[in-house]
Amino acid sequence: MKLQLILVVALVGSAIADDDAEKVWTEDEVEALMATATSDVNATVPELIAQNGYTAEIHYVTTEDGYILQMHRIPATPTSPASDDKPVVFLMHGTVCSSADFVIMGPGKGFAYILADAGYDVWLGNARGNKYSRNHTTLTNFTGPDFWYFDWHEIGYYDQPAMIDYALEVTGQEKVIFIGHSQGTTTFYVMASLRPEYNDKIKVMFSLAPVAYMTNLKSPVLQFAAKFESYLTDLFELIGEYEFFPNGDFVTEIGSTYCDDDALTQYLCSNALFLLVGFDKANLNITMLPTIFGHTPAGASTRQIVHYAQEVRSGKFGYYDQDMISNLYKYGSIEAPNYNLSAITAPVHVIYGANDYMSAVEDVEKHYTELGNPIEMYRVPDENWNHVDYLWGITAKELVYDHVISTIEANYSD
Ligand SMILES: *[C@@H]1O[C@H](CO)[C@@H](O)[C@H](O)[C@H]1NC(C)=O
Ligand SMILES: *[C@@H]1O[C@H](CO)[C@@H](O)[C@H](O)[C@H]1NC(C)=O
Ligand SMILES: *[C@@H]1O[C@H](CO)[C@@H](O)[C@H](O)[C@H]1NC(C)=O
Ligand SMILES: *[C@@H]1O[C@H](CO)[C@@H](O)[C@H](O)[C@H]1NC(C)=O
Ligand SMILES: *[C@@H]1O[C@H](CO)[C@@H](O)[C@H](O)[C@H]1NC(C)=O
Repeated sequence: MKLQLILVVALVGSAIADDDAEKVWTEDEVEALMATATSDVNATVPELIAQNGYTAEIHYVTTEDGYILQMHRIPATPTSPASDDKPVVFLMHGTVCSSADFVIMGPGKGFAYILADAGYDVWLGNARGNKYSRNHTTLTNFTGPDFWYFDWHEIGYYDQPAMIDYALEVTGQEKVIFIGHSQGTTTFYVMASLRPEYNDKIKVMFSLAPVAYMTNLKSPVLQFAAKFESYLTDLFELIGEYEFFPNGDFVTEIGSTYCDDDALTQYLCSNALFLLVGFDKANLNITMLPTIFGHTPAGASTRQIVHYAQEVRSGKFGYYDQDMISNLYKYGSIEAPNYNLSAITAPVHVIYGANDYMSAVEDVEKHYTELGNPIEMYRVPDENWNHVDYLWGITAKELVYDHVISTIEANYSD
């Protein structure tokens, strides 16, 4: 834990000292915001949904390899046209995130509410290891190495299909409309390339801030981490850390390590967020920061991070790379195999932004040309659009959600 922190803190410190000073939060702004923290900060996702007058459902799904995942559902808003076969929309979050991503901005703003209001049956996934999906049929030590021995490959291969099958079974439908953000696109690509039968269960895929190739990644923090990728795993194993960014502790510990010993400054450290995702202060509602950091980070394995770091270094969209012997044993080849984007037959709409530190335009374009059934590349019409504006951006509805919903209505509503 300490090691991860020192690494991140050192980077955050040096990068903030750069020329981004006027783009980050000031102490005055932070002070003003502290007064606004509401109970939303601590509520669970189903509690938030219910507090806002929507029906919230909790569903448990067990994967083939024993992980017990918690899904959340907002059945279509009752005032929308009554029908038994409201299309299922499946929303999948990114790394260190959860179903909260699509909910915390509240009705009229969060994508989940907007979809429910538009008459969709909204299902929210939670990947193994995040705070809602920390349970297993046989493993009982949720801080131990066995539980955390996975990365986004397993989330794509096991969690994603299990959650889709479950939603289809409950609703009696045949296909879902899939909307993934960031790692939620990576896990979709893993599933749809390795388990071709799942393409038939997808009406359409919307990839928001897609992540497959990562060569052109702009985030200074992640670039740095990628350079040391081969040491990261060993270090993590040595110090016995299997969870990356343990929920809650991370922001708090950074607060006391890097910033002053003052709760206020925790939020100053939220400037670290921009170093990961791209600077777009104008589009982030500062009064929502306590809520955002009450729900994020929500937990992920160190292997998820290491696997992404491998993508940055190798330039490939490939399986988790181990040493040669282990690769040979596990994959039957000395090199870790690549995922085959051409094998994905479900129609894919790609939505990307120009100022996304994690999903660079060049990498988006490269993966798009390889997809088996690419339909559209939609560049968000805001040159400052960053990696999390899809979730929390003030203009997300106008610039992204409206486009997605009108595309569904025009082309995928039968
Ligand atoms: C959230 O919970 C913590 C710990 O229980 C508490 O100290 C804090 O005041 C709560 N915050 C809000 C805004 O309710
Ligand atoms: C974990 O799953 C088991 C088996 O389904 C269940 O009995 C238990 O209540 C779950 N624990 C949590 C914390 O959800
Ligand atoms: C769970 O795993 C951690 C990390 O290996 C270990 O420190 C801890 O003692 C384990 N807990 C139990 C109850 O075995
Ligand atoms: C920012 O969030 C607050 C609290 O939810 C809300 O009242 C306000 O309207 C939001 N501002 C913008 C510009 O969306
Ligand atoms: C990738 O999938 C496509 C379409 O199914 C197939 O034609 C091609 O041979 C595959 N490539 C590899 C390297 O397996």
